[in-house]
Amino acid sequence: MFRRAFLGTLGRTIPGLAVGALLPSAFSAQQSIGKSRLIVRSARPEDLETPVHLLTTWMTPNDLFYVRSHFYTPSIEPGAWRLRVDGEVGTPLELSLAELRSFPSTTLVVTLECAGNGRAFFDPPVAGVQWEKGAVGTAAWRGVRLGEILRKAGVQPSTRYVWLDGADRGIGKAPDFIRSVPVDKAMHPDTLLAYEMNGEPLPVSHGFPLRAIVPGWEGAYSVKWLTHLQASARDHDGAFVQAGYRYPRRLVSPGTVVPPADTEPLRGMPVKSLITAPADHAAVGSDVRIVGFAWAGEREIRRVDVSVDAGRTWQEAELGRDRERYAWRQFEYRWRPSEAGSYVVFSRATDEGGRVQPIVPAWNPAGYLWNAVDRVRVNVGLTPPAVSSPAARAGAIDEPGASIAETRCTVCHDLRLIEQQRLDVDSWRREVDKMIGWGAAVGPDEKERLVTYLAGRYR
Ligand code: HEC
Repeated sequence: MFRRAFLGTLGRTIPGLAVGALLPSAFSAQQSIGKSRLIVRSARPEDLETPVHLLTTWMTPNDLFYVRSHFYTPSIEPGAWRLRVDGEVGTPLELSLAELRSFPSTTLVVTLECAGNGRAFFDPPVAGVQWEKGAVGTAAWRGVRLGEILRKAGVQPSTRYVWLDGADRGIGKAPDFIRSVPVDKAMHPDTLLAYEMNGEPLPVSHGFPLRAIVPGWEGAYSVKWLTHLQASARDHDGAFVQAGYRYPRRLVSPGTVVPPADTEPLRGMPVKSLITAPADHAAVGSDVRIVGFAWAGEREIRRVDVSVDAGRTWQEAELGRDRERYAWRQFEYRWRPSEAGSYVVFSRATDEGGRVQPIVPAWNPAGYLWNAVDRVRVNVGLTPPAVSSPAARAGAIDEPGASIAETRCTVCHDLRLIEQQRLDVDSWRREVDKMIGWGAAVGPDEKERLVTYLAGRYR
């Protein structure tokens, strides 16, 4: 199940596109701000994962916080920036940053997690950024209540959804990234428009100057670089509401193509835990601190259990004192192994509603909400064997199809987005069709050659 755990590292070493050459200068500058310890899933658009062993504190420092971006990072001049509020409202507003800051502020500690965190572990593999465990982090977000701004605008009783749009724009013909929040959640006093992260102005990668914080729901609701709020009587009809961030209504067998009509939007988050130490394959001594985090969206964590014998027996871990309604809880279990050997350590969280992490999460076509019982292998008193990464794949640059990929597929993004996928022919064809729809200039005579090449090399 964890067979692909090393692809992130591999992806970075494959020589691909000379990324720097194509980047706008503002973007390259942002890259240099101390994020070098993050795993680059894609440099352009920017998708960065936190190596889990760096998640050592209840609050995640800004420069270690994972970054998820659908499109290129917009650069915004704060003086000229405005937030428009319109739609089903009595008085449309246009607010400057200074005006927003003049409203009473609220600070909330909230854990954000990408809906696709853990996508790399689904079998069969699914298309998308191949996040492993680290697309999750916790920060203190300061801002103004979204409900307060909506009330100020005279939000009408006809409003059922609030649409959130940021300054990023679809690349090519890809649709704009717009999300839609049901009005009850939008008006909830804990839903924020945040301008600070851990006491600093929002970093550019995290949505400067303003982002939504929709606590306890998957990260894509917390739209970055906000410029427009629209109150609406109906749900938004764009791709990121009607096709993306949806989950099958009933369990499907792995590999099934599920039409959007048979799916429903993601709301809330499942219960989950993550072991941050010891690291997978670590060598440990006779006194081992097994630590990590557990979270459950809008719900509280009731307990975390740890097993040091691959699930035969379980012991309750101690929960950390730091707690906030929408934030993860740290857990710790002190283990004193008496015999040398190689052990598999599990962590399993239970929330206040009695939900427990599964051994195998339900497969779904977009690879959302991976929340399997977490596991690491540790070696007590043994020298761990060198864990070999998968052999680098053959160069094969001049295979038929390779040059099509080089010329057609790197126009908008990093080759890494392609290299990290493991898809069969049909899934690759769907992916190529999607990209053609978004503006990839693949000729009719090129398409099947490209699909054959991709499915042969990246599966
Ligand atoms: C017109 C711009 C454009 C071109 C050209 C393009 N892509 Fe993409 N592609 C995107 C964008 C934008 C994303 C990121 C979407 C996101 O993160 O939501 C993306 C993401 C991807 C992903 C990650 C999975 C996903 O669907 O998000 C894969 C795989 C991919 N592209 C393959 C390709 C291939 C193969 C080609 C060449 C045929 C290609 N792309 C050409 C715009 C493009």
